[in-house]
Amino acid sequence: MTARDIAPPTGKLGVLTPGMGAVASTFTAGVLAARQSGAAPLGSVSQTAHIRLGTRDENRNPLIREFAPLASLDDIVFGGWDPISANALEAARTCGVLEERDLAPISAEMEGIIAMDAVFDQKWVSRLDGARVKTEANMWDQAMALMSDIENFRIENDCERLVMVWCGSTEAFQEPSSVHATIESFENGLKNNDGNISPSQIYVYAALQSGVPFANGAPNLSTDLPCMIELSHRNRVPIAGKDFKTGQTLMKTLIAPGLKARMLGLRGWYSTNILGNRDGEVLDAPENFKTKEESKLGVLHTILQPETYPELYGNVDHVVRINYYPPRGDNKEGWDAIDIFGWMGYPMQIKIDFLCRDSILAAPIVLDLALFMDLAARAGEFGVQEWLSFYLKAPQAAGDVPAEQDLFIQQTKLKNTLREWMGEPAVTHSEAG
Ligand SMILES: NC(=O)c1ccc[n+]([C@@H]2O[C@H](COP(=O)([O-])OP(=O)(O)OC[C@H]3O[C@@H](n4cnc5c(N)ncnc54)[C@H](O)[C@@H]3O)[C@@H](O)[C@H]2O)c1
Repeated sequence: MTARDIAPPTGKLGVLTPGMGAVASTFTAGVLAARQSGAAPLGSVSQTAHIRLGTRDENRNPLIREFAPLASLDDIVFGGWDPISANALEAARTCGVLEERDLAPISAEMEGIIAMDAVFDQKWVSRLDGARVKTEANMWDQAMALMSDIENFRIENDCERLVMVWCGSTEAFQEPSSVHATIESFENGLKNNDGNISPSQIYVYAALQSGVPFANGAPNLSTDLPCMIELSHRNRVPIAGKDFKTGQTLMKTLIAPGLKARMLGLRGWYSTNILGNRDGEVLDAPENFKTKEESKLGVLHTILQPETYPELYGNVDHVVRINYYPPRGDNKEGWDAIDIFGWMGYPMQIKIDFLCRDSILAAPIVLDLALFMDLAARAGEFGVQEWLSFYLKAPQAAGDVPAEQDLFIQQTKLKNTLREWMGEPAVTHSEAG
């Protein structure tokens, strides 16, 4: 197999996050700490996982970061926008994910990462009141202002390349409308301040017009709009979405494929969460929760294929709840009551109580998405990067096919994509391999 011609990761890589809250500040702190201590950033597949090459007897198993030409952590520069947080240190202290002892050694660097004024409209996130907001009233002008920010950041930080990962709040639920149909209709909508255009969509537009790959970590509509897919093709820029796969959905995509692999039936799956961070507060508003609910509900259907297995999965009650409960802060508790059945229809139950830390699970995903999106761009890729579905709760498919939700198939796809780009045969796990 011939390897792709991938441009080397020379120079600095700017990672821009619209949204500098719990996830973004935890991501930044973790990378800075790893850089300072030399310790591997745990949970990051790009940094800590190995990849098998060739047949088992060849014993070739390098680290992914030594196999694929990824940007080095030392070359990352951080930037972002936020209507509330002033800088990354303030954001980290406010959300309270990390302890002061972990922030102290990196506090000067964190404080130096100043949030740029956001394109923000409270209509889309009713629970937040943003003060650090751009003054342009017209959406087209806001997009141009973001493009100036991007260009200024690139110059001031001497970046060779940039990537953008949306770490902003989940916006209110919406369906795509005619303004999202084409690049032309979207640009007209920007000029006419169309009420169906949300702030996150203005960031995607500005990124793609600036040649910056964009990954969406939240469930709101952004890269998954026809106009953005068209723009990503026209400007040859990679996109990926949506919604970081952490916590409860990660558990779901671990367990559901296992149940299906052993042909165990499912009657119901009741999921409830309590969390007390700003994200939880935003999701307490029904219009914002609806966006999250849609993203969370799709998972089981795609994995279990009830059309193919109606007797096992044709009658599943799937319920998802999120409750804002301030005492827990970022330390979410996710309960799952799973009702399954087996041989001769006898019922069984599984209970999961996952006392997780949301941002601790999301931070490595931001890093991996940033590094892999940058790799994709250097490999000449553009449009939807399906191979990064591994990280996403409601993955976007490239074309009119169902998106893959099974974490293990997603992992195989990610690794085989890397092998293919590097000129190595896919690993099929057949008897011969
Ligand atoms: N932590 C997880 O496990 C996880 C998993 C999946 C998805 N997410 C999503 O990631 C996003 C970030 O989560 P978080 O816990 O950091 O939330 P957070 O509330 O701590 O941070 C979000 C930040 O975005 C800012 N913001 C809102 N609108 C903005 C705009 N238009 N431009 C720029 N900034 C804006 C807010 O001021 C806030 O500081 C949320 O949408 C969340 O749903 C998080």
